[in-house]
Amino acid sequence: MSEYAIDAKNIYMRFNLSKEKVDNMKEFFIKLVKRQLMFDEFIALYDVSLSVKKGEVLGIVGLNGSGKSTFLKIVSGIYKPSLGTVQVNGSIAPLIELGTGFDMDLTARENIFLNGAILGHSTKEIREKFDEIVKFSELHEFLDVPLKNFSSGMVARLGFAMATITKPDILIVDEILSVGDFLFQEKCERRISEMMNNGTTVIIVSHSIDQIERLCNRVLWLEKGKTRMLGETEEVCKAYKTTTSKF
Ligand SMILES: Nc1ncnc2c1ncn2[C@@H]1O[C@H](COP(=O)(O)OP(=O)(O)O)[C@@H](O)[C@H]1O
Ligand SMILES: [Mg+2]
Repeated sequence: MSEYAIDAKNIYMRFNLSKEKVDNMKEFFIKLVKRQLMFDEFIALYDVSLSVKKGEVLGIVGLNGSGKSTFLKIVSGIYKPSLGTVQVNGSIAPLIELGTGFDMDLTARENIFLNGAILGHSTKEIREKFDEIVKFSELHEFLDVPLKNFSSGMVARLGFAMATITKPDILIVDEILSVGDFLFQEKCERRISEMMNNGTTVIIVSHSIDQIERLCNRVLWLEKGKTRMLGETEEVCKAYKTTTSKF
């Protein structure tokens, strides 16, 4: 058994941004064969390595566009890296973007079953956990309302409840905690702390440096797709705050 929950080595992520508009696939392939297509390459991650030990709570900080979400998507298996390897040991619950794994036209009740299935749970398991999910997300009165009528905070509540109700080995939280109101944030932090105490490995991206300082053992600072710093929470947060306060 590896002592690591996540072991990412030398990750590169390259996006191809097509500069031209093509009207259909046929035109695309003709241009491709004639080498008339121009691509802008964009390197979103440049040689990032990160090992997260089982039970560790790791924070990722960095300005917008620094590659945080891209990195989390690679760790969650949503993107395949252009280069590098990722090893994940254990079940993973990614809370990456608001609404990922939800169908906005379906009701909250329907989405609980849909999202549960996406997270790999049986209908029976979800039925057993249903009341707990509803209680945590505080959506009793809105169970039969389509998600498109929910506020972003309500969707975040449901997403967080779904991702954490069935104790994953690894929890990934991308900015979600900044969406809900203050009370819900506290509730989420309490649940993350409980999960930490039960040995769950957590990766958190948050704009709130206070939150990172409260929760994390270690912090990765990404800057323009590269590792600027990786180390103890206090040290990295201090350096990050000093640098970003100059803007
Ligand atoms: N699917 C994609 N196609 C092209 N570029 C992308 C894609 N996803 C992200 N990017 C670019 O990669 C960079 C990093 O994005 P992201 O990982 O979302 O940053 P962060 O989460 O730190 O704000 C950004 O410049 C973004 O525009
Ligand atoms: Mg992001």
